[in-house]
Amino acid sequence: MNTGVDTMDTRPTTAPPEGASHDVARRLLQASPPLDSQTSITWDTTAPDDAWYCVPERLPLFGTPLWQRMNDKQRRETSRRELASMMGLALWSELLLMETFARHLTRRDPKDPRTQYALTEISEEARHSAMFSKLLDRLDCPDYRPPAALHRAAACFLPSRDDLTFATPLIFEEVLDRFQREAARDDRVHPLVRQVCQIHVAEEARHITFARSAMRDAVRRTSPARLAVQRQRMGVRAMAATRLLVNTHVYRDMGLDPRAARSQVRANPHFRETLLWSGAKVVPFLTDIGMITSTERHWWRHAGLLQ
Ligand SMILES: [Fe+2]
Ligand SMILES: [Fe+2]
Repeated sequence: MNTGVDTMDTRPTTAPPEGASHDVARRLLQASPPLDSQTSITWDTTAPDDAWYCVPERLPLFGTPLWQRMNDKQRRETSRRELASMMGLALWSELLLMETFARHLTRRDPKDPRTQYALTEISEEARHSAMFSKLLDRLDCPDYRPPAALHRAAACFLPSRDDLTFATPLIFEEVLDRFQREAARDDRVHPLVRQVCQIHVAEEARHITFARSAMRDAVRRTSPARLAVQRQRMGVRAMAATRLLVNTHVYRDMGLDPRAARSQVRANPHFRETLLWSGAKVVPFLTDIGMITSTERHWWRHAGLLQ
């Protein structure tokens, strides 16, 4: 399998404005202006001591022997650190998305509404990143983000030549969206976390709509040979993405044996169910447009996103 960097095509992409993604971008550009998290979130919101920071049933350790041995306070503390890990991952993936989109857009026609919408999306992701940074500051946990070296490697291996650029961000966005939508609705979750999730979910809905239409058009325009390579790469990235949802540094800092915690998470039927649930929107979509076929299903099974 070839997982090397894409062959660089330095010609500007001046594809004719055919395809639904052109109209979708035009419509989204006229959508309501984004919310300002600096002013629309009550950052000094307090919560009762028994607030959760994530939906407890979605935590990787939920229901494991280690979880059963924890008292209530330890479980809530685990949820605070797991949220810091997830927000760190969200921030990391948004920085990656901005970097990849920026490279992609250097080859695009600036007059094309898809280019203009992608630029709008970059500006929204920049504000989301600032919002996640501020929430991380409030959570006051260690920095649980994936290492910077992994970010650099991921950036090198992401395609930026065509609209298949949207594939990997779409996996992150759709999976995180599932967790955040649920947390936003759950009144056991800290109200500050719920406010952040509500703002993010509202704006991500537009990003997901755009990425889906761009991907659908890109698949139609891409040669079968290139699609076959990109499908394999996307499967590998899906596997890497879900691995990042489990952060052993959280367990170490909770005083648990990280290896035992990881193996209990892997064997945890609740977490297997959670992973399948998290992929329940994006996997059928990618299958429908032909980005997951029988040849790549094993990657998606390893990712836990497919049974
Ligand atoms: Fe975002
Ligand atoms: Fe987004």
